[in-house]
Amino acid sequence: MSKAAITGIHGYVPDYVLTNAELERMVDTNDEWITTRTGIKERHILKGEGMGSSHMGAKAVAGLLEKTNTKPEEVDLLICATTTPDYIFPCTANLISDMVGIRNVGGFDIQAACSGFLYALTVGTQFIESGKYRKVVVVGADKMSAITDYTDRTTCVLFGDGAGAVLLEPNDDGYGVLDSIIRSDGSGQQHLFQKAGGSRYPPSHETVEKRWHYVYQDGPSVFKFAVKNMADVSAEIMERNHLAGDDVAWLVPHQANKRIIDATANRMGINTNKVMMNIHKYGNTTAATIPLCLFDYESQLNKGDNLVLAAFGGGFTWGAAYVKWAY
Ligand code: ACO
Repeated sequence: MSKAAITGIHGYVPDYVLTNAELERMVDTNDEWITTRTGIKERHILKGEGMGSSHMGAKAVAGLLEKTNTKPEEVDLLICATTTPDYIFPCTANLISDMVGIRNVGGFDIQAACSGFLYALTVGTQFIESGKYRKVVVVGADKMSAITDYTDRTTCVLFGDGAGAVLLEPNDDGYGVLDSIIRSDGSGQQHLFQKAGGSRYPPSHETVEKRWHYVYQDGPSVFKFAVKNMADVSAEIMERNHLAGDDVAWLVPHQANKRIIDATANRMGINTNKVMMNIHKYGNTTAATIPLCLFDYESQLNKGDNLVLAAFGGGFTWGAAYVKWAY
């Protein structure tokens, strides 16, 4: 059976940079608190009327197709992980496909909050491994600024906007996504969610007045859950693939909080210089954090490198993947 190899990666963040200094002027916070509690210095924000996650996703996918010399008509499937779709329907995958000229193929969204990219990668892998498709694009795109309350200091410092995309193709030489684990626990839903806008609480004057269309997060509960589960699932995927810390070239963690990333690396026995980290410049871009890490570190990756991707997010959702880098 062929494995699904990542054969290209591209990322996109919008131009506008929201610094900790600017946030200090918006809410009662300070650079020292944000930096020590999260590791974030700045994040990119998508400005402009009528621009959604698809705008950034399309930029990432267009760059990916160009870089990998892939024609839109060669793509068999496009999967988009997003928690901030442009619309409730149609799905953002369709919008992205239309923007880049991919037509007449399947496309759908996956919603698993910050674990979305890992979920989408796992699903995309199945279509390659089964032999059904030969070129699958997986894109993570989130405009978190659209659901962030910039009067709430406990959440507004955390999030940024961005997108990243990978191309998956069959590989028969032992490279690619060799294993993955995806998990969820719905009993954690009340700790991190957007209360209104869906079918349970459709938008109304009341929901807007109550600010229910923004991210609600009980930070300390999420923190506790994240530290345990991201570390546990990373250790589990290493154990079942007989990987020791020294065998792992890179940990590619979801970028939500530097302290959670450090705890995971510590549990895995991985030195901090082997941990991909760009939270300081992008903040938490939800489904885009992992592909944006791969994009930023692409020039440092070597064929055969063992990568462990790990994430957790609202839902709760979490997971890990073991990837042998293919180029
Ligand atoms: N600036 C200054 N002070 C602040 C800020 C701020 N931006 N935010 C909160 N505080 C204050 C609080 O009000 C509190 O003050 P009090 O003690 O007087 O009440 C104090 O700082 C400590 O607040 P905590 O919430 O206990 O701070 P904590 O150390 O837990 O850090 C944080 C908060 C950074 C949010 C942390 O809990 C965290 O990272 N949680 C996980 C976040 C995450 O990873 N989310 C998952 C992914 S998101 C997704 O799936 C969409």
